[in-house]
This record gives sequence, C-alpha cells and structure tokens, in this order.
Amino acid sequence: MGGQIKTQEYAYFKREIVPVEEANINIKTHAFQYGTGCFCGIRGYWNDEKQQFYLYRLKDHYERLYQSAKILMMNVGHSIEELIDITVSLVKKNQWKEHAYFRPILYKSDLSISPRLHDVGDDFAIYTIPLGDYLDVEKGLSCRVSSWTRLAENMIPTRAKASGGYINSALAKSEAMLDGYDEAIFLDSHGYVSEGSAENIFLVRNGKLITPQFSDSILEGITRRSVIHLAKKELGIEVEERSIGRSELYVSDEAFFCGTGVQLSWIREIDRRVIGDGKLGKIAGAIQKLYFDVVMGNQAGYEDWLTPVY
Ligand SMILES: Cc1ncc(COP(=O)(O)O)c(C=O)c1O
Repeated sequence: MGGQIKTQEYAYFKREIVPVEEANINIKTHAFQYGTGCFCGIRGYWNDEKQQFYLYRLKDHYERLYQSAKILMMNVGHSIEELIDITVSLVKKNQWKEHAYFRPILYKSDLSISPRLHDVGDDFAIYTIPLGDYLDVEKGLSCRVSSWTRLAENMIPTRAKASGGYINSALAKSEAMLDGYDEAIFLDSHGYVSEGSAENIFLVRNGKLITPQFSDSILEGITRRSVIHLAKKELGIEVEERSIGRSELYVSDEAFFCGTGVQLSWIREIDRRVIGDGKLGKIAGAIQKLYFDVVMGNQAGYEDWLTPVY
C-alpha cells in the first residue's frame, strides 16, 4: 500500500477543499440528530505498474446520489460534472498513490429541530481515506441469516442510500459478528433474501447466477450492476433477478457478496450449512478475477467505467 507517510488529509467541505480537521459540523445539525442524509461509497484503485489512479464508476455513483436526494427531498447543489471534478481534485490534493475510499455525503445541515424533509437546508461534503480490503476476499465468509428484518420500502426505502437506514445494517452486522460470524444476510419483510449489511448477494445454481430483484428491499448496487454485466458479456452466464427463499441459500452451489466496500467476497457457509464444496467456486472466482482486472484498469473495453486521475 505505497508505504508513504501521510502528513495531511484533505476533505471537501462547504464548497472548499480543506484539511480534514477543519471539516466539522455543529452538534445541532439536523442530519446528526435524525440521520437525514444520503451518501456514496466510491473506491479508487492505484495501479503501480501504470502509475495511475482509477476512480470506479464515478458517474454512476453520483447519479445514484441524485436518486437518493430525490427520494429524501434534498438538493445536491452540484452538477454531476462538478462532483466528478471535485473528486478528481481531492485525489490530487491527497496525492493518493494507494487504494482509497471516498465518502461523499449530502446531509441536512440546518441547526433546527423537527424530523422532516422539507424546508431544511442541505450541505455536501466528501472525505477520503486509504482503504484495502473491507472483508476478506480470499478466505470465504461465514454468514448467518439475521434476526433483524431488512427495512421495507414503506419504512425507509433501501433504494436511497440513506444515513439513518444504516441503523438496520449496524444491528444485523453486530449481531452476526458478536455471534462469531463474518457477515449477516437480511430477509425482507416478506421473508425473501434481500442483501448483506452493506453489500448485494448472488447465488449460483446449475450454472446460473441468481440475485434478489430491486423490489426485495435492496440497494441498487453499482457493483451488482457490474457483476451482471461481466457475467453476461464476458462469461456468457445467464442471470436471474428474482425473489430467493432462505433455504435456497443453503442448497446453492456458490454464493458471494458484492459491493464497493466488500468488492467481491465469496461465502463459505450460511447458518452452519457449507455452500457447495466450501471452496471458492468457479463462477465466483472467474467474476472476482474479472472485477479486479476491470477496477485496476487491466481489462480492455471498460475504460468508460474508469476515471484516470493522473
Ligand atoms: C446496503 C447496501 N447494499 C449494497 C451495497 C453495494 O452497493 P455498491 O455496489 O453500489 O457499492 C451497499 C454499499 O456499498 C450497501 O450499503
């Protein structure tokens, strides 16, 4: 990871790039009280051989921020092009030459009381940190189906990447980890498989990929979209987007999570049932390899998904 000693990190705050220590909010902030914010998680990959830093699917992430903002009646206050320019400037200012993570956040910044969406002002900020793997991409994860139910569309819509909704994720993640598992799998309010605490899920059965459809309380994941595209286009694998029953998890041949943070991490067991033969499966392995080649700028034909910075 570069091995350099960093002296100063910079963030984007109140329309300026400032030292991260100066990017602070007041304790009266609406979003701090009520979770009224929405955010993105974006990764950038440093390719040492090419001496290049690639931001992954920036435009798609910012389009989803716009979608979240619409649901939460918020105003991004920047065009998508401006957001892309700001992110690129932040990479340069931080002089990133290692893998990094970006957290753009749109939040209700007024210092006012009353949980509501209308007539409360918004602000936008981005911070960035160096980040390698968030979950182990090699080991094979042990998971449990959560005793917590995924938020339903008419509670807090999971289509919006809404700050307050992550209480639901935190409850499930802590329950799973404190019980000795690596990660949780949510069922939705109808009892169908939804997603992990911060990642989408895929199964493989009889050579086909299966993943929960949008109406099963999932985030419309950008990595999910990448996986579907790569599976169909590069590997000729059929993909079904449909509801999945809990027991279908147990009898699947392979299972894996995908998301910006988790990247592509395969699942070894669920609720103490070993998945397939308990090893990284052929399809998950092939998609994982393709995914890492794409994000690192080593797969021809995917230049549109990458923003090179230097
Ligand atoms: C709840 C949830 N589902 C899925 C994902 C995956 O989405 P993406 O691939 O856009 O990062 C995330 C975040 O990364 C998430 O927080």
